[in-house]
Amino acid sequence: MNIEITDFDYRKERPVKKIKLTNDNSVSISILTMGGILNEFLVPSDKESKNIVLNFSNISDYYKNPFYIGMAIGRTGGRIKNGSMPLDGEVVTVPSNENNNTLHGGPNGFCYDFWEYSTKQNQDSSSVTLYKNIYSANDGYPGHMEAKITYTLTNENELNISYTGKAYQNTFFNPTCHAYFNLSESNTILNHELMVESSQYLELDEEKIPTGNLLDVGQTPFDFRKPTLLKEAINELQDTTEKGFDDVFKLDHTGKIATLTNSDDDSIEIFSDRNGLVVFTSNSFDDSLNLIKGKGQPYMGVALEPQTLPDTHNHENFGDVTLRAGEEKTYTITYKYNSNKK
Ligand code: GAL
Repeated sequence: MNIEITDFDYRKERPVKKIKLTNDNSVSISILTMGGILNEFLVPSDKESKNIVLNFSNISDYYKNPFYIGMAIGRTGGRIKNGSMPLDGEVVTVPSNENNNTLHGGPNGFCYDFWEYSTKQNQDSSSVTLYKNIYSANDGYPGHMEAKITYTLTNENELNISYTGKAYQNTFFNPTCHAYFNLSESNTILNHELMVESSQYLELDEEKIPTGNLLDVGQTPFDFRKPTLLKEAINELQDTTEKGFDDVFKLDHTGKIATLTNSDDDSIEIFSDRNGLVVFTSNSFDDSLNLIKGKGQPYMGVALEPQTLPDTHNHENFGDVTLRAGEEKTYTITYKYNSNKK
C-alpha cells in the first residue's frame, strides 16, 4: 500500500492536491481535493497500466462542461423538480441550476467545493477522507451539516466510497459518484456489456424529471437483467431525443447491483446500499471536451451512479433522503475491479 500526495493544479489561486492510493496489485486511484474528483482508476494492462475512468489533465477543464466528470455529487444527486421537496411537512426550496430544476446539488453543490483531507494506511487498504462543514449560506440547502467522503482502495481491488452526513438541522442527503467508466482501449463503451439488477425504471418527463410512474424493463432496451451489449441497447434508442441512456433504474435489491464488462477481459462490479442507479452513456459528449483519452464523443464512457431514487420526496415509495438534526448517516458505493486476464 502506498499513498502519494502531489500538486495537481490551482483553482481560484488555491492549490488542488492529488492524492494517489496504490495497492499491492499495482491498482491505484487518485482523488482531487477540489470537487472530490476521482481523477484516475489505474489498473495493470498490456501497456503497463490503463485508466478506466475519464479524466482531464487540469482542473479548469473539469468545470468547462456540464458533465460532472468524476465529481462527488451532493447534497442530492439527480434532479429535484422546481428545486422543491417536502421536508417533515414543510416544502423546502433549494437553488436551481437547470431550467427551474435543481441538478446534482445545485449551483453550489459538493463538486464546486475545496475539501480538507486526511489519509490513512492499513495493511490491506488505504484511504483518503475529504471533509467539510456545509452551511445553508454555502449551497442554499436547509441546515448546517458535516460531510465526509472516504475513498478506500483495498488489496481486493475495491474502491469503496463512503459518504457520511451529520446534520445539525433537518436536511436532504443523497450523494453519489459521477465517474464515467471506460474499461477498453477504444474511445467508446459500445463493446461493453452491462448487467443491472433492475426490473423497473422511472418514466421521465421532457425535463428528465420523474413522473412517479415505474415502467417494466421486460421486452424493452432497458432490460439489463442479463448482461447486454451496450451497442445493441443503444441502437434501439436511436429514434429517441437522447439517442442513448440517461435513465434511472429502480434496483431489485441492495448489495451487488450491476456489472460492466469489457469484452470478457475485465469488469467492474458495483455494490450499493440504496434503491436507484442512474445510467448515463455520455450521449451528448462532443469534441469540445479535451479528455486525456481523446476528444469527447458520444458513448465515450458510462456513468453508473448509485443513489436513492431522485426527486425523492415528491413521489410516494421513492425512499427517504432526510437527514434529521442530530442524525448521522453513511451510504457506501463499491466499484470492484476484476481482471480476467492471467
Ligand atoms: C447525469 C444526468 C444527466 C446529465 C449528466 C451530467 O447524472 O442524469 O442528465 O445531467 O448527469 O451531464
